[in-house]
Amino acid sequence: MTWTPWKQAWDQALYGENGFYRQATGPAGHFSTATQGIPQIGEILARALLKLMDQQGLDTFVDMGCGRGELLEHVHRLGPHVHCIGVDVVERPELSEPIGWIRSPGGERLPDDLDGLSGTLIFANEWLDVVPCPIAEMDENGELREVLVNVASGAEQHGEVVSGPDREWCQWFWPLDRLEPGDRVEIGGTRDTAWDNLLARLASGLAVAVDYGHTIDLRPAMGTLTGFRQGRQVLPMPDGSCDLTAHVAMDSLTHDQLMDQRTALRQLGVSGQTPPHELSRSDPMAYLQGLSTASAAVALTAKGGLGDFMWAFSQSR
Ligand SMILES: C[S@@+](CC[C@H](N)C(=O)[O-])C[C@H]1O[C@@H](n2cnc3c(N)ncnc32)[C@H](O)[C@@H]1O
Repeated sequence: MTWTPWKQAWDQALYGENGFYRQATGPAGHFSTATQGIPQIGEILARALLKLMDQQGLDTFVDMGCGRGELLEHVHRLGPHVHCIGVDVVERPELSEPIGWIRSPGGERLPDDLDGLSGTLIFANEWLDVVPCPIAEMDENGELREVLVNVASGAEQHGEVVSGPDREWCQWFWPLDRLEPGDRVEIGGTRDTAWDNLLARLASGLAVAVDYGHTIDLRPAMGTLTGFRQGRQVLPMPDGSCDLTAHVAMDSLTHDQLMDQRTALRQLGVSGQTPPHELSRSDPMAYLQGLSTASAAVALTAKGGLGDFMWAFSQSR
């Protein structure tokens, strides 16, 4: 049996030659996000992002880890003046002609031609949770050890004691003195570096990372690594058969502002307010449309759901 550190096994499973994200289905075939799944939700998000771009005077929209470009199509339709570019690991899918595309190696690696972006909003929705990171577990002697996985069976065992930059990251962001034997740490250094590398490509504008995550006061003790396949949550198997994702330590990312999605979207005018009942008589179609928009807005900002996602903003001047 060969035992591989989770980070390497995870990277190979998602971005190797036949990796999960290289398969034709695309993310939408396996799970739904704010950008795909229900079109009204993606449309509201696109409207909010266009408002943000307008406030910031930005004219280029880069969707980092854009799946098959679902959000890009909304942004393009609602803001045809905006230059839209998708970045993902596959060849350009069928998209409206003006939408640009850059193919990426995947995970923590970025494509060389994604560079020198100015006047740009980079939006990375659920990218960093699929950037593989080392996983560690506190052993019965109180030592933090890297977790190794058997790629064929998904079985795990402890490897070396965590040291070097990974240990330093924990000292700053995931205090070890609070851990009990069996507790796990998803070490965020690779996500931080991937994010910093992306910020380095932004000459001027704003970058926003959106993900399910946690901050130092609420780290998840049991670990969050999990799999998704065809709409179901499954055991994390690093064999390319499922998505592999773990929550993101959002506060360790370089940021100017950090807030939940509910707050971010409310600031951009998204509210779940239903249309006045009077409209149901005067213009029933507009009333129904208003109800559908309101329910999509509620879904995007819901407590215990998408509203709890976190937005990390980083400005570049
Ligand atoms: C969880 S999915 C989210 C897709 C989309 N943003 C959404 O909201 O539905 C993550 C996406 O990030 C892409 N991805 C991962 N690493 C990447 C990288 N370095 N460059 C570009 N895309 C990447 C994956 O291929 C996948 O499509």
